[in-house]
Amino acid sequence: MGIKIIGTGSYTPEKVLTNSELEKMVETNDEWITSRTGIKERRIAEDDEATVGMGTKAAKKALDMAETSPEDIDLIIYATVTPDQPLPSNACLIQKNLNAKNAACFDFQAACSGFIYGLEIASSMMKFNTRYKNVLLLGGEKLSAITDWTDRGTCILFGDAAGAVVLTKTIENKDTLISSTMYADGTHFDLLEIQGGGSLHPITEDNINDHTHCIKMAGNKVFKLAVNAMVKSSKEAMEIAHVTPAEIKWLIPHQANMRIMTAVAERLGFAVEKVPVNLDKHGNTSAASIILSLDEYVRDGKISKGDKVLLTAFGGGMTWGACVLEW
Ligand SMILES: CC(C)(COP(=O)(O)OP(=O)(O)OC[C@H]1O[C@@H](n2cnc3c(N)ncnc32)[C@H](O)[C@@H]1OP(=O)(O)O)[C@@H](O)C(=O)NCCC(=O)NCCS
Repeated sequence: MGIKIIGTGSYTPEKVLTNSELEKMVETNDEWITSRTGIKERRIAEDDEATVGMGTKAAKKALDMAETSPEDIDLIIYATVTPDQPLPSNACLIQKNLNAKNAACFDFQAACSGFIYGLEIASSMMKFNTRYKNVLLLGGEKLSAITDWTDRGTCILFGDAAGAVVLTKTIENKDTLISSTMYADGTHFDLLEIQGGGSLHPITEDNINDHTHCIKMAGNKVFKLAVNAMVKSSKEAMEIAHVTPAEIKWLIPHQANMRIMTAVAERLGFAVEKVPVNLDKHGNTSAASIILSLDEYVRDGKISKGDKVLLTAFGGGMTWGACVLEW
């Protein structure tokens, strides 16, 4: 038995927010945002659209590609820090929308590392339990809902999107996921956090006025940790998979900052041409960002059977990891 990714799908909202529009909201400018981050624009979900709606659209595309009926999905896992509501899980609401009535469902969050964590979680569960033959794994965020639109240090960074993949058990004894590493360091919890809205600081008028329900980030400290962690975990994932950068067709890093992506590529020995970019059009979409590129490249035929791809991510927690896929 092997575990293969047989479908990918993604969705981004229609509404575009450009850097020049942000210039009217906070003291910033297109030149600063472009040179410091690589971001030119991002997509913003409508008020009545959130991670379940976006995820449902992405999932339908992934199921179509996989030629798999929702009834044949045994497990739905959704990685997000912005679920539609605290209870029930996004995964249960996706199950309802798709009528995937035979699926067990849960959400988890590993922030921007959600898809890397999710692939290992899904694969491990499929290996452990014969019940899970077809798994729908989603990563999606409506970061615009938890962005402090008065904080120029963060509001220029984020965008909304969702992505999905379908994993299935095949008779071919080969996995798509050939190596995986997952790490975390909770001692740096306060470099990237949302303090309010949980059980320690429930929603009150005061903490809404203080924007404690919004993302706060010490950007330059996160930056330094991110590069080192992504490089180290990527090297480990390649070592476990017994592959060199030369044998890898694409390096798809989490899309947080072009300078981080370039530094990671350089330090791993990848030409920048081998790094797909969606950050310029979508900003940082957290758990969705890697799936957006994966889906685009699969649909364009840039990733096909036998191609090896290295994925790596870093995010709040702090969490990070990397994995090697063989398509
Ligand atoms: C957020 C980030 C783009 C900021 O870039 P930076 O080069 O580190 O910039 P700094 O935070 O050091 O700020 C430099 C200056 O620019 C200013 N600045 C910050 N945001 C600005 C903006 N949008 N427009 C103009 N100036 C801005 C700061 O106030 C500071 O001014 P000062 O020198 O007068 O104090 C960058 O740190 C980053 O991408 N960090 C990592 C994000 C990440 O990986 N997250 C993890 C996963 S989500």
